[in-house]
Amino acid sequence: MDNPMNIIEIMRRRDSCRTYNGLRLDKSAITSLEDEIRVLPRLFEDVASPEIRVVDNDGAEGKLGTYGFITGARQFLAMASGKTRAEQVQAGFMFEALILKATGMGLATCWLGGTFRRGAFSEAFGSLGEGMEISIVSPVGHPTPKRRFAERMMRRMVKADRRKPFADLFRGVAEDTPIGRVLEAVRLAPSSSNSQPWRCTVSGGGDAGDGKEGQVTVEFSCAASGRFAPVDMGIAYCHFLLASRQEKLDWEIEDASNPLGLRFRCR
Ligand SMILES: Cc1cc2nc3c(=O)[nH]c(=O)nc-3n(C[C@H](O)[C@H](O)[C@H](O)COP(=O)(O)O)c2cc1C
Repeated sequence: MDNPMNIIEIMRRRDSCRTYNGLRLDKSAITSLEDEIRVLPRLFEDVASPEIRVVDNDGAEGKLGTYGFITGARQFLAMASGKTRAEQVQAGFMFEALILKATGMGLATCWLGGTFRRGAFSEAFGSLGEGMEISIVSPVGHPTPKRRFAERMMRRMVKADRRKPFADLFRGVAEDTPIGRVLEAVRLAPSSSNSQPWRCTVSGGGDAGDGKEGQVTVEFSCAASGRFAPVDMGIAYCHFLLASRQEKLDWEIEDASNPLGLRFRCR
């Protein structure tokens, strides 16, 4: 994904927005999102990609229900994906790449895996491929200047503004190094109920954390087993690889046998 804007800055800017201003996106923004969907980066070459579409929410409060969690959104990104772990990790990776693209365009978003009416979204999505189901949606649009009370409560409930300390999540690397800065970008990743299941161990790099000393590996693991764990890990890998580009680090997947705990080797 070519992004002239500093991608780590975009990751910092992204947060979940649940209150929109009720206006439609203009045509050129929708076209840009659709163009981006066609060229999204993939994590695994040999795993099926999800299908992602921009869907309209007709009328003022729309037909696409979100149980009141989202208000004022006129467009949604909707994703259909397969059910295997690897497909869900791939889906998380690609949808987050799109969310970051939207953020870079100045648009607000919010990952939704639970609080939306699947039936209505399936209908709006249109035909689904064999074995695919709507797994994730996100409103996409412009926020209101102030968050609703219910939204502020929701953020407080899931401690949305609190991330676990760096040292609790990542081992074998100092924060103020290239690899440390990349992992700090992983720490900014959204996760279901802000569960932050991603853990990493960096080996073989010495203290420089620049990926150049010897054969550095970064091994992920997942500290959760919930329904969204694979999607959450896909999002983390997306932050890891996109932020790595900015830090001029290049990785290959060394061990993909467990999609929830990939091991990357520095090239
Ligand atoms: C896979 C996934 C599913 C999510 N599902 C919901 C949801 O159903 N409803 C909701 O309001 N937020 C949902 N969220 C948003 C998270 O609660 C939010 O990302 C987290 O609290 C961190 O806050 P932030 O995105 O503002 O950084 C989901 C996030 C992810 C990654």
